[in-house]
Amino acid sequence: MKTVTFFRGDGIGPEISDSVFAIFKAAHVPVAFDVYDVGAAEYERNGKLVPDAAFASFERTKVLLKSPITTPIGKGFRSLNVLMRKKYDLYANIRPAKSNPAVVTPFPNTDIVTFRENTEDLYAGVEEKISDDEMHSIKIITRQKSERICRAAFDFARKNGRKKVTCVHKANIMKLSDGLFLRVFEAVAKDYPDIISDNMIVDACCMNLVLDPTRFDVLVMENLYGDIVSDLTSGLIGGVGLMPSANLGSDMAMFEAVHGSAPDIAGKGIANPTAFLWSACLMLDHIGLKEYGDLIRSAVANVMNAGTATTPDIGGTGTTTTYTDAIIQEIKRLAAMAA
Ligand code: NAI
Repeated sequence: MKTVTFFRGDGIGPEISDSVFAIFKAAHVPVAFDVYDVGAAEYERNGKLVPDAAFASFERTKVLLKSPITTPIGKGFRSLNVLMRKKYDLYANIRPAKSNPAVVTPFPNTDIVTFRENTEDLYAGVEEKISDDEMHSIKIITRQKSERICRAAFDFARKNGRKKVTCVHKANIMKLSDGLFLRVFEAVAKDYPDIISDNMIVDACCMNLVLDPTRFDVLVMENLYGDIVSDLTSGLIGGVGLMPSANLGSDMAMFEAVHGSAPDIAGKGIANPTAFLWSACLMLDHIGLKEYGDLIRSAVANVMNAGTATTPDIGGTGTTTTYTDAIIQEIKRLAAMAA
């Protein structure tokens, strides 16, 4: 039995966490979760967003499944995601956007994986108040961090039979910082002659993504562009409620849905657990339990394809609980067929 640290979060976090717990139990996944409440309520109680014991658990297990957490805008504590990525140097944020036949969109053949550099750029948090009327935010790009994210993207492409890696940048304007990122990308690309490499300016990339996403395969970019472009790619497949993500470091890994804590629907029982569940499946792949991830993914796909059991955000009439129950019934059916 493998132990995995689990942060329950706030907003819809507890609801989609319960869904994952129930589905893992039904699939007999050999994982024990070490569960911690983190987020706004914990901050009010103890003055800490994350209890020390929760960090210690992650440092022990090296693997974390994290449900979303609310970040107040413009005040209060820094985003826990930004903190976690920096504290544990989880430098590669991987966001796969693959169309699902059950979710009708204008882009049925999308299959794009975004590699977002997670630790520097404008997210380095180097901000300065010049006066009440002028604020500065510094963009930091380094050779070492650019190289490791580009290499991660090419390694992924090679390992997963992908054909092309595109560097997305704005080097025409930010000639020094984005220029460095692009030069490093081109140097790394030389080590992967079997993979096609090209580059595109970020604004043109956004336009081309919505004109014809099938021309893209693997994308690699700096932190801010990756944040925005990967939300765009989630829109191509039906929204953030469908997109999982992995944050990988050299020996630690954190898995989470791309979406936030959705305070507008928290407690209403209609949160879509799919992206978080798929993030849990990426976690299972990562720890060598891919067969369990595949079982859960198949059950979700069958339920989604069968009709309206899904939550309203993707056109269903179900609730978080009834959708979860439908997935559990499908897992049981698939397991019985395989036995
Ligand atoms: P959001 O992703 O929480 O919500 C955007 C829209 O998508 C809302 O209408 C929401 O109802 C819907 N939505 C999101 N997830 C859904 C789901 N699973 N099922 C159905 N509908 C869903 O983004 P928003 O509103 O900008 O952020 C809310 C809070 O979440 C903020 O405090 C933000 O900082 C935080 N956040 C946390 C993240 C994390 O912990 N990983 C990531 C992104 C935002």
